[in-house]
Amino acid sequence: MKALIVYAHPSPASFSHAVKESLKSGFIDAGWEIIESDLYKMGYKACLDRYDYPTYTEEVFNIDRASTQALNDHVYDREIEIEMDKIRAANVIAFQFPIWWSTTPAILTGWLQRNFPIGFGWPDPVLSGKKVLIACTAGNNPKEELEAAVKLFARSFEFMGAKILPYIIITSVNTSTQEGRENELANAREVARETAANFQTAP
Ligand SMILES: Cc1cc2nc3c(=O)[nH]c(=O)nc-3n(C[C@H](O)[C@H](O)[C@H](O)COP(=O)(O)O)c2cc1C
Repeated sequence: MKALIVYAHPSPASFSHAVKESLKSGFIDAGWEIIESDLYKMGYKACLDRYDYPTYTEEVFNIDRASTQALNDHVYDREIEIEMDKIRAANVIAFQFPIWWSTTPAILTGWLQRNFPIGFGWPDPVLSGKKVLIACTAGNNPKEELEAAVKLFARSFEFMGAKILPYIIITSVNTSTQEGRENELANAREVARETAANFQTAP
């Protein structure tokens, strides 16, 4: 079984990085294989544009026609094809990112927008049978506001047929104590381990 961990933070010194490593450890504890997309490290392109569809040659870019052509030709920008293969292979897709202005970092928004063109995820059921685990770090926004922000991100995966697991939202990261941080990391590891261990049995 495989977990794809999609991680969106520019700094390896961030708490997001530590949480990502904990998630990874939890899946490994349960005997799962890890596939990783460290988006900043990969230099992942954040913006969807016509170059995502290399066989589209019309002068004016029409996204519906371009993505339909890519679907028929089975050709996308190589960066997208690599991510699509990772998505197909994964049983769980886990995300780790910081909340920035009540949303995901642009690089992660781009990952979602570029990798799920028409024909991949919808209407075909690529995500059916997969589970999505969303973990994020945040500042001091009230938990309900952060939940609403994460729900918007989760919504797309739910629409495409994935099961959304309870979110891990870690607040007040910049003012938390060492003990608080260690507890959060232990919790993330355990959530990932349980997600993997109960994958077949949990609804
Ligand atoms: C550009 C920017 C926007 C932010 N917006 C929010 C926000 O809307 N809500 C919030 O609670 N924290 C916000 N924060 C705080 C970050 O979420 C917080 O610093 C981060 O999650 C800390 O974890 P890290 O070590 O993984 O970066 C923002 C930080 C930055 C840099």
